[in-house]
Amino acid sequence: MSAPISRIVEALEPSATIAMAGKARELKATGRTVCDLSLGEPDFDTPAHIRKAALEAMDSGFTHYTAAGGIVELKTAVVGQYNARHGLDYAPAQVVVSNGAKHALHNAFTVLLNPGDEVIIPAPYWVSYAELVKLTGAVPVIVQTEQAADFKLTPDQLREATTDRTRILLLCSPSNPTGSMYSPEELGELADVVIEKDLVVVADEIYEYLVYEPHQFASFPTVRPGLMDRTILINGVSKTYAMTGWRIGWSLSPLYLAKAMGSLQSQQTSCPCSISQKAAIAALEGPQECIGEMLAEFTRRRQFVIERIASIPGLSCPEMGGAFYAYINIKEHLGRTYGGVQVDDSSAWCLELLNQQNVATVMGSAFGTDGYSRISFATSMENLEAAFDGIEKFIASE
Ligand SMILES: Cc1ncc(COP(=O)(O)O)c(C=O)c1O
Repeated sequence: MSAPISRIVEALEPSATIAMAGKARELKATGRTVCDLSLGEPDFDTPAHIRKAALEAMDSGFTHYTAAGGIVELKTAVVGQYNARHGLDYAPAQVVVSNGAKHALHNAFTVLLNPGDEVIIPAPYWVSYAELVKLTGAVPVIVQTEQAADFKLTPDQLREATTDRTRILLLCSPSNPTGSMYSPEELGELADVVIEKDLVVVADEIYEYLVYEPHQFASFPTVRPGLMDRTILINGVSKTYAMTGWRIGWSLSPLYLAKAMGSLQSQQTSCPCSISQKAAIAALEGPQECIGEMLAEFTRRRQFVIERIASIPGLSCPEMGGAFYAYINIKEHLGRTYGGVQVDDSSAWCLELLNQQNVATVMGSAFGTDGYSRISFATSMENLEAAFDGIEKFIASE
């Protein structure tokens, strides 16, 4: 017997980044050497002092359920960090610790949205936003932004896209997939429209530490008074401390929303992993040099990527202010053949690049804009060099 799948789940698009990484893994299993630029996770080990805290948690028996929304010590460390870095005065009770930032986003959408509500998502967008919104029965409203504007939403675009069903504006800065960042002034102008239209903002700040000079990160609620009352901040340890597998992320929000997300989570997952929570406290409260070391390496790779993209005719990408992605415009190289295979869109381009040169990237169509290919430079220089040699050969082929 095969039971029908729910309509909501059947309509979900599987994650394209995870799918491309899966294809790369399959090829590797057949003995091919693949340069994998598809997955967005730091290639560094989780720092030793953080791993040690996890071992200590296990050895001391801290291996049971915790409070559903996370332990108070971790919530206190989270607000301590936000208060110190951004001068935002949150209380620990406003934090909900989840199984990764992705889960925190899902909680935020679930407690705020009813079927038919609309969420404005500027494209290109991280693959999961639209699908997580759809899981609630609400409607993602995709607003195309322009490369010439560094893929940033303008206040006029926001005003035009807002209807009486709009509940949420989703902002991600620095952005996955483009790396572009809003300045405090640009965020302030968007905030004016948010206040005028009475919207809630879900601000995904997961890349806040991965910012390249001279860019400056501004946390959304700092740009206008009163925004803490209408913002859900999303953050976590995955990208900052190379802790993707530990599954710890969180939200900071008005207390009534934190309470709702906490009770949702108590029925969904009981609590985030106890051991990972202790590790996350060590990450937030321990030595922070590891962030600078990783950032220095990302800065070197970013420079290399910028130079290689500029050296290949017909390729370009927006300025990467933060994160570890380059969103490469490949439009001039579509509508032609590669090794005799006709390639008309970004999906075919990425698949042929993988088939012919063993380089895995992700098609722009997965992020809501065709004509682009996203690479992650969270991989070794050696890998990046080999990958760009492959891209160069691919583009020179006919
Ligand atoms: C913009 C953005 N938000 C959230 C996440 C999810 O982070 P986590 O691994 O903590 O669930 C990612 C991961 O790729 C991301 O790029």
